[in-house]
Amino acid sequence: MADWRVKSLDSILATAEKKSLTRTLGAFQLTMLGIGGIIGTGIFVLTSEAAQLAGPAMLLSFVIAAVVCGLAALCYAELASMVPVSGSAYTYSYATFGEMMAWIVGWALVLEYAVAASAVAVGWSGYAVGVLKEFAGLEIPYALTAGPYAGGIINLPAVIIAMSVTALLVVGTKESATVNAVLVVVKVAALTAFIALALPAYEAEKFVPFMPLGPTSAISAAAIIFFAYVGFDAVSTAAEETKDPQRNIPIGLIGSLVICTAFYLLVGVGVIGSYGAQPVGMVDGAAPYPGSPELVAACKADLLQSVVCSNEALAHVLREIGHPGVGNLLGLAAGFALPSVILMMMFAQTRVFFVMSRDGLLPRALSKVHPKFKTPHIVTIITGTGVTVAAAFFPVGQLAAISNGGTLCAFLFVALAIMMLRVKQPDRPRSFRTPAVWVIAPMAAIGCIVLFSFLSTTAILFFFAWAAAGIVFYFAYGRSRSNVALGIDGVSELDPDIPPQGVPPLPGIHTPGGKDA
Ligand code: ALA
Repeated sequence: MADWRVKSLDSILATAEKKSLTRTLGAFQLTMLGIGGIIGTGIFVLTSEAAQLAGPAMLLSFVIAAVVCGLAALCYAELASMVPVSGSAYTYSYATFGEMMAWIVGWALVLEYAVAASAVAVGWSGYAVGVLKEFAGLEIPYALTAGPYAGGIINLPAVIIAMSVTALLVVGTKESATVNAVLVVVKVAALTAFIALALPAYEAEKFVPFMPLGPTSAISAAAIIFFAYVGFDAVSTAAEETKDPQRNIPIGLIGSLVICTAFYLLVGVGVIGSYGAQPVGMVDGAAPYPGSPELVAACKADLLQSVVCSNEALAHVLREIGHPGVGNLLGLAAGFALPSVILMMMFAQTRVFFVMSRDGLLPRALSKVHPKFKTPHIVTIITGTGVTVAAAFFPVGQLAAISNGGTLCAFLFVALAIMMLRVKQPDRPRSFRTPAVWVIAPMAAIGCIVLFSFLSTTAILFFFAWAAAGIVFYFAYGRSRSNVALGIDGVSELDPDIPPQGVPPLPGIHTPGGKDA
């Protein structure tokens, strides 16, 4: 059947032009890389959303999401070490399940990366508004800080940051390992300060009721807070640059996840124990969904200034428990560090679009590289426009949920692909082999399906509508024009302007002295 046409791994590797990379990264750098990609809007902003969904039981949510990510991470690592080329889950699916599934996964990755960039931009906006107010006395009119969902017009700070990051990517930027390390230190210092000040104010009664919305609420919150862990893929994409990948990749992946989980749990205990994290607007054992007009109304009526109503959760808690100065500094740290997460997400998106267009599934003109800047400027501007529009008008919680839908779909395919390739191509070299694969991969797949089913109805419907639109586009466009359909191996013969590896590496994995991934 034509739709199951599979691209051979050898052809993928040949198309992508094999490069010999210096193996410079050790376990420590990989762990820093992972933490740099992981810590962002999730913990700084979505903690309020998790609290609204589960109350103090959000602590369980942090653990559930971490376990699913850890399982998926181990699967990711094997594929990345086997197919060390651009395109991540999209490329792996092309080799395993064929073109149509690859297209759907690539299409889902738009949700994972581009929509995540929008979510982080909106998260950043919450902190930027707070920082401008506290440090410069500048109060941006409310109508310009939120979309119509919350009674505003447009989220202007989110628009500005999304456009700025787009401009940076067009001109060509890559975050060096040093910049990444500095930002990791800033983020970790901010979370450490929060923990140090919030834990001493702990009161056990703030944990009661622990599950105001019932046991399954912890899974609903996990489906959102999952966003806080996404970004570790940066580690697996560095497989080729890693010394002793069989040892160091799992240390980097699991190490960064374990460290972030520990921080997240302590932050969670700090938020709940010092200030309280009960949902607002509860009626008959149910509470309004984060980002909904009902929650906005409930928050307007909330005299307690609950954390679930804050756009800058952690800074808000510190200010309210008597540390306004450190709260403001934490806001500054978030404002400083979050844009690099937007950069990583948008960069990953442009890379996936680039590879899809190189494969002929999207118009080939999209992967043209700018003559001066040497960046894929067309896909970057298209991505940036989409990210900006979504950030301008939609709430962070819904954007994160939609992004998670795409990520969970991609992770599911990765888990399935790794099992299929173990059967179909057992002898292909893998510099990293997932341990206990027949336990880990099925558990990862089940975890992804469960979390997906607990996303908001809007996010689930959006996912299927998006997938349906993608299938229509595939049949209308890519199916007849792809390289595989045309019998072309490699695209350079079609257009000399499109190099096989024309884009710079993922930000954060450039190491001084080493070559780029
Ligand atoms: N994990 C990243 C964040 O929370 C995407 O911002």
